[in-house]
Amino acid sequence: MFNKKYTIVKNEEVIPGHRLMCLNAPEIASRAAPGQFLHLRCGDGQDPILRRPLSIHFADRGRVYILYRIAGRGTSRLALMARGDIVDVMGPLGRGFTLPAPGERVAVVGGGIGAAPLFFLLKKIGKIYGKKKDMVRVFLGASTLAMVPGAAQIRKMGFPLDIAADDGSGDFKGTVVDMFRKEAKNLALDRVYACGPPPMIRALAGAVGPDPAVEVSVEERMGCGVGACLSCACKVRAGEGEGFGYARVCTDGPVFDLRKLVL
Ligand SMILES: Cc1cc2nc3c(=O)[nH]c(=O)nc-3n(C[C@H](O)[C@H](O)[C@H](O)COP(=O)(O)OP(=O)(O)OC[C@H]3O[C@@H](n4cnc5c(N)ncnc54)[C@H](O)[C@@H]3O)c2cc1C
Ligand code: FES
Repeated sequence: MFNKKYTIVKNEEVIPGHRLMCLNAPEIASRAAPGQFLHLRCGDGQDPILRRPLSIHFADRGRVYILYRIAGRGTSRLALMARGDIVDVMGPLGRGFTLPAPGERVAVVGGGIGAAPLFFLLKKIGKIYGKKKDMVRVFLGASTLAMVPGAAQIRKMGFPLDIAADDGSGDFKGTVVDMFRKEAKNLALDRVYACGPPPMIRALAGAVGPDPAVEVSVEERMGCGVGACLSCACKVRAGEGEGFGYARVCTDGPVFDLRKLVL
């Protein structure tokens, strides 16, 4: 893990209220894995005092990208930064996704800005699968088609992509989990990867069936980002018949086996 100041290469709006930031961060780029995150200081002063966790959207050739929704104080400050500005970054942090073995049938499910870490995952899966990208199905959802981040890039990578939109402007009218439920019956999936808001993850738990391995990236408010403060604790099953315990999203996750989470 590095804690350094890195220069912003770009910080541009990609869809309304969402920006793509590129950092010149060679050390992080060379070690980053899909599902890991950065912990960023969002201003040069003490406000906000806590860093904000943002997933690694992509990393390549010395550059690290984050795709973020302007949610509140911290991300609003990030949005004001421009090319040449410096950001204090910790990363790469956390435990990422387990990559699939070639030949496994895979679904990747993202809700809203939950698509952010899935892009990096798809890049890696693309390298493993080569021309067999039709064994991977991608399901993304948002309120309306125009608010789905990164759809064009995912299609360009060659993955079959289905988009659910609440207003009917996508391939399916409704939630991404409803679309997944309908399609998954015919897919004999070995693995499912997902990221999205808590209601989406809860709905997915009821839709996924017993067979595939399911990994989800969990969002929780964070303090230190390195396992020391316990502010990111989430409830997990302790074991067969053993009740529950707590895990730290920053170091035990943010990617967890869905069936171990107490939702
Ligand atoms: C491991 C991880 C990876 C993440 N990756 C991304 C990403 O790639 N892109 C992205 O846009 N967002 C991501 N998030 C969520 C992001 O961290 C929050 O949106 C951000 O911290 C909000 O900060 P803020 O100061 O702008 O908003 P605040 O003013 O702090 O809060 C605004 C709203 O966001 C909610 N919120 C605050 N922190 C979190 C949090 N950690 N998780 C969920 N909701 C939160 C608050 O409850 C409130 O409703 C990730 C969160 C985690 C834990
Ligand atoms: S954020 Fe401090 S332990 Fe996870």
